[in-house]
Amino acid sequence: MEYKVKDISLADEGEKLFKWAEQHMPVLISIRKEFEKEKPLKGIKIAACLHVTKETAVLIKTLQAGGASIALTGSNPLSTNDGIAAYLAKQGIHVFAWRGNHDKYYWCIEQALKIKPNITMDDGGDLVTTLHTKHKELIKNVIGGTEETTTGVNRQRVMEKNGILKYPLIAVNDAMTKFLFDNRYGTGQSSIDGILRATSILLAGKNFVIAGYGWCGRGLANRARGMGAHVIITEVDEIRALEAAMDGFEVMPMKKASMIGDIFVTVTGNKHVIDGRHIKKMKDGAIIANSGHFDNEIDVSWLEKNSTKKEEIRKNVVEYTLSDKKIYLLAEGRLINLAAAEGHPSEVMDMSFSNQALAVKWIVENAGKLKNKVYKVPDKLDREVAKRKLKAMGIEIDKLTKEQINYMRGWKEGT
Ligand code: ADE
Repeated sequence: MEYKVKDISLADEGEKLFKWAEQHMPVLISIRKEFEKEKPLKGIKIAACLHVTKETAVLIKTLQAGGASIALTGSNPLSTNDGIAAYLAKQGIHVFAWRGNHDKYYWCIEQALKIKPNITMDDGGDLVTTLHTKHKELIKNVIGGTEETTTGVNRQRVMEKNGILKYPLIAVNDAMTKFLFDNRYGTGQSSIDGILRATSILLAGKNFVIAGYGWCGRGLANRARGMGAHVIITEVDEIRALEAAMDGFEVMPMKKASMIGDIFVTVTGNKHVIDGRHIKKMKDGAIIANSGHFDNEIDVSWLEKNSTKKEEIRKNVVEYTLSDKKIYLLAEGRLINLAAAEGHPSEVMDMSFSNQALAVKWIVENAGKLKNKVYKVPDKLDREVAKRKLKAMGIEIDKLTKEQINYMRGWKEGT
């Protein structure tokens, strides 16, 4: 079995983490049980580019239980848990991932592609892009793919629009049981978790600047407020800015926020949201982190060029000495929640990854019938995930009566 991980002897440590995640992912486990019986992925080869976490391990084992062979690579150089990578390698998965594989990031993707996938499972779009640029010859084997995150879906929609996309993709990110929970509560909690594990600072009373008020920004803003921070939102979208203001947050341009912020977190999915112009205005001691998919939201190269000294003063905290102040960058400006903590909690990944598993099964069932487009997760599957999650949480809900169904179908009954 081919793999490249940091240290295969970490497998036992990884197994313990995996088992802990399993206990908090009841929906995915229910799907795994069905997959074990039905083998819906028999003979299917999957190349996956995901954050190699304990939750991802539960997903990978579910796909394997369904009969798939899997090659796995990390979707960020700092997000791989080496114990999990070792555990999965021992479980017969072709794993090419280790924490800190910056130089070999694309090499790892290329190794995973050697499986000649029928299905791609991507988080951020690097796998799909590599396939469409450097390995077009492999596309003929692919029946479809899934995408986990907003950034990847955006990239793939551009590919579709420009006629470049060569096989159907399912935007798992856009399932309601994904973005309403993973992006909001997952990012909210795990970003704070990463910032606190890295810095151990007090949030109460701090000016906490969040760039971006999408689902991730919303979740983060609420959690930061819950910890007593004074939350400031920067936005480019007028509706979102208005929403942030009416949700009770202060809204201002980054130009202004940069002068008063104590902690800055970017969650926009865009580039250079914090650049040299902003850093110049920041207070001595300001802390900057990113929770968006890529590490380009903060112009780290500006800090590199304009600092006289750079020192790692704690794990995941680098102190940059500028002429007039010190600025602290967390986790190289990479996803703070995965680089400095453990990513989203298992309970939300339960829903995201159940969508992944059901979407893969759906692709197999619909092979050859789909166009080269970005599809939504079918509503039926999305709602199935919600139903199973409610059941696992012991929550019952009401049903419409016949009278109510008829009322909703009619138009004559009024005042
Ligand atoms: N993305 C965010 N959190 C994650 C996690 N725990 N596992 C996999 N992907 C993630």
